[in-house]
Amino acid sequence: MTQAPIARFTRLRHATFTSPDPERLLDYYRGVIGLGLVARDGGRLFLANDCEQLSLVIEPGDSALKSIAFELSPDVQLEALGAALKQADLRPELHSDSLPGISKLLSFSDPEGTRFELMQGWTPTPAQERIGGLAVAKLGHVALRTPDPKAASDFYANVMGLRVSDWIEDRFVFMRSGFEHHTLNFARADVRSLHHVAFELRGPTHMHQACDHLARHKLPVLWGPVRHGPGHNTAIYHRNPDGHLVELFCDLDRMTDEALGYFEPRPWHRDRPQRPKVWVGLPRDVWGMAPSPECTEFAR
Ligand SMILES: [Fe+2]
Repeated sequence: MTQAPIARFTRLRHATFTSPDPERLLDYYRGVIGLGLVARDGGRLFLANDCEQLSLVIEPGDSALKSIAFELSPDVQLEALGAALKQADLRPELHSDSLPGISKLLSFSDPEGTRFELMQGWTPTPAQERIGGLAVAKLGHVALRTPDPKAASDFYANVMGLRVSDWIEDRFVFMRSGFEHHTLNFARADVRSLHHVAFELRGPTHMHQACDHLARHKLPVLWGPVRHGPGHNTAIYHRNPDGHLVELFCDLDRMTDEALGYFEPRPWHRDRPQRPKVWVGLPRDVWGMAPSPECTEFAR
């Protein structure tokens, strides 16, 4: 008999980055991505999206992803979850009022050392300024590198309640925590680190505006616009001032009814219905050019 997951990640909430130049990164997220500053706390910067939800935390340090936050179902008892995570040797810590709009959160480190924050509920954290830039809809997904994507997918499926949406061969796995095709991905690489972070746009017109906006800010589009195979999102990729690959996407596949096991049918699907599968060979994308050399790790 398979055991129930310890936790059930539900909704991606925010990511925390350390940066050697937090003010430069703040300028970028304000002026390009379109998040607004909520508050400063010592060296920490808190940014919200246009929905007044905490989306990004920036702290001084080396350029790196520090943690990823997910929201849990309201029926989960955080204290009981903490005890279960402790029993699984995941070093949980319970924090109170450590982030704007969040009263309690439980943090833990996964087997490869990536820190996660789990929380329930939120109160609005409006930016103290008008949201400019692209005013993205939300943080959409985070992709991590790992030496062993299969072990990572087993851990996140069996222990954290995510579901596998697609594989690219045996080297890239897309996992969903809600109805959206992916919120957490793992790509094979030598060491655990950030692969890319993605923000959701509101639709094709917003995608068009994003291309123009990146050009105006002299941020070259390194790949796209493209409509991917896995997830069927349209996407463009660029690098932020800290060198992290940032994807802007819209129109991601949705499994609106988990029990049916297939993604909401759309005309550009090749499989009818489109179910989770292993994608092998090229071309994988529905349309769009191959990635630039700076993005080739996607296409190998
Ligand atoms: Fe992505």
